[in-house]
Amino acid sequence: MSRYADAGFPQARPRRLRRTPAMRRLVAQTRLDPAELILPMFVKEGIGEPQPVPSMPGVVQHTRDSLRKAAHEATAAGVGGLILFGIPQAKDERGSAADDPDGIVQQALRDLTADLGDATVLMADLCLDEYTSHGHCGVLTPGGEVDNDATLERYASIAVAQADAGAQVVGPSGMMDGQVAAIRRALDGAGHTETAVLAYSVKYSSAFYGPFREAAECAPRFGDRSSYQQDPANAGEALREVRLDLAEGADMVMVKPGLAYLDIVRRVADEVDVPVAAYQVSGEYAMVEAAAANGWLDRDRAIMETLISFRRAGAQLILTYWATEVARRLSES
Ligand code: PBG
Repeated sequence: MSRYADAGFPQARPRRLRRTPAMRRLVAQTRLDPAELILPMFVKEGIGEPQPVPSMPGVVQHTRDSLRKAAHEATAAGVGGLILFGIPQAKDERGSAADDPDGIVQQALRDLTADLGDATVLMADLCLDEYTSHGHCGVLTPGGEVDNDATLERYASIAVAQADAGAQVVGPSGMMDGQVAAIRRALDGAGHTETAVLAYSVKYSSAFYGPFREAAECAPRFGDRSSYQQDPANAGEALREVRLDLAEGADMVMVKPGLAYLDIVRRVADEVDVPVAAYQVSGEYAMVEAAAANGWLDRDRAIMETLISFRRAGAQLILTYWATEVARRLSES
């Protein structure tokens, strides 16, 4: 017998609560539930077959039909919500397809509303970058800057088009000042008082969006998004953005990306009394998939560990491209 045991040392033994899987399950402070997961989905106009996204193995640009099937599967797996991103056939300076009643996202929203009704929460990303020929999130001034207030008019119109088509939640992601207020006013004015706003309140100018720009075909043709998205060096302005969005009528707030910003997730979660979402973005997905494909880490464990970290940091909702897979795994276990 060890002399330590003889002496009644150590007095505290935290390992007692880690001994068996049943004990660990009993004392786990954080759990994942499929209902808290939101699946981002891409739907592209004018394609005959779903198109794989090379930098996001397992993710595709859907056709309208394949979207319906995948949305059904996600819902059957218990995923809490779906958020749609559209890729139009034709792009122009002002992103005209974004608020076209027959634009691809509006068509997809009508499809999914008919198929799923209230069985899921149907959301639409609300931005212009997928729709503009220049790839920026708003309309441009003659000098080539993103024109904040002219863009708000576009966002207001997109919000109404999406709500008309069945979106229950719209998610403005363009980081224009006043976007939540402009959208709220437009929705209410059009009779869509029940349509909720999930504000991408805290959105950093991040390298981790790289694969998404391939998936959504929206890389800016010139410059970058740093004049509207936040500087990764700053935390204080994240809280300011959240406060402003809540004052403007946001129903839920989001922090994006996730993993590199868990400190921000925690600070926001401590500050607000609305649901806080975190977006596990395309680059986070790609990193794990690429490392796993090389045999460098255990894919399934890494996925679950990142997701539980989001929850532990205070995110109530998580947007993840793994939502359907994880929801299934959770129901099996
Ligand atoms: C903008 C938008 C972006 C993402 C979601 N909405 C890209 C960007 O700001 O460049 C990124 C999501 C991801 O990387 O998974 N409409």
